[in-house]
Amino acid sequence: MRIVVTGGAGFIGTNFLFLMHEKYPGYHIRVLDALTYSGNKDNLLSLLESPGIEFIRGDIREPDTCMEAVEGMDGVVNFAAESHVDRSIHDASDFLSTNIAGTYNMLKAAKERNVERFLHISTDEVYGSVESGSSKEDDPLLPASPYSASKASADLLVHSFGMTFGYRAMITRSSNNFGPYQYPEKLIPFFISNIMEGKKVPLYGDGLNVRDWIFVKDNCEALDAVFHKGTPGRIYNVGGGCEKTNMEITRCLLEYFGKDDSFIEFVKDRPGHDRRYSLDCTRITEELGWRPEHKFEDALTATIEWYIDNRPWWEAIKKKREEYISFMEKHYDSLSLKK
Ligand code: NAD
Ligand code: TYD
Repeated sequence: MRIVVTGGAGFIGTNFLFLMHEKYPGYHIRVLDALTYSGNKDNLLSLLESPGIEFIRGDIREPDTCMEAVEGMDGVVNFAAESHVDRSIHDASDFLSTNIAGTYNMLKAAKERNVERFLHISTDEVYGSVESGSSKEDDPLLPASPYSASKASADLLVHSFGMTFGYRAMITRSSNNFGPYQYPEKLIPFFISNIMEGKKVPLYGDGLNVRDWIFVKDNCEALDAVFHKGTPGRIYNVGGGCEKTNMEITRCLLEYFGKDDSFIEFVKDRPGHDRRYSLDCTRITEELGWRPEHKFEDALTATIEWYIDNRPWWEAIKKKREEYISFMEKHYDSLSLKK
């Protein structure tokens, strides 16, 4: 099989490529990635030695690039996106062009070249905050951030391609992933690296917002199941079944390093901060037999150990990358005005 993976140099894309290469060594995989601030080609160095893996530096916002990338391919997995809510609050223009127009370009190219299978990667954030119960795939979309609005827009485009052209792409909506290679602006790797640097961790608001955490390897297994066995045109929720407040996550991390709550700095809340996400994953479990295999505590420990063992990986980002430093300084300076 020949597959294009967009955004393969990012966090989930990298983990997905390792899994696919291990499980399907005969596949030809073409990675299409613009290498924005969060993409890192070095993640893939060992994979790129394999003749079956090809890397194209290219932007899904360019229709011709998408058309060339899908040429001769049997499948697309579309990870490429701007993925950080806080950045979308400061400036959403790249979110709209990549997440919406870029997805449109990939769908159009794949439809025109008759690419058999298309899996679009979405998020539980499109449902918006759920105070009680859990979101099902057919629930209305009520995104609260520019990021989630751009992801919801892409999901609607995917739906429209099925209705208008009979091009039935699949969608996964996963909960918050954690694991190796996650850019250290997201809660878990940011907090681990701060603690390792002896710095405090900035908790938004009262720290009681709830996220459902999934180990990235479990999500990648779900993506593999949906890509190969999912019903065209269908949406699948992919949750870890592990809801925790940000305070609980923070305490787990502090405890690992033998630190107490004095390392927490409560900062101004994120505007539009969704209180809780929760997914009903009955569909993927019943139809495809998938369920998360990793225990949260073990996966979190393995993740912390990865950041300890790979300190140069995140230090190169936190200390050397201008795109990281300028955004984080601007963002956290504006939050340190306490509530
Ligand atoms: P990431 O920010 O780590 O990686 C994004 C990748 O996309 C990077 O390699 C980047 O270079 C590439 N990219 C960005 N714009 C591009 C463009 N215009 N053309 C080509 N490549 C481009 O993100 P991630 O956490 O790996 O998320 C991957 C996907 O999963 C995204 O679609 C995201 O919305 C979705 N998702 C993520 C989570 C999570 O917890 N991380 C949860 C649910 C869904
Ligand atoms: P994040 O990792 O940005 O993922 P998302 O916003 O997509 O859920 O944030 C996870 C949770 O952690 C979210 O409720 C916001 C909170 N958070 C903080 O409290 N402090 C921080 O510095 C960050 C980055 C996130």
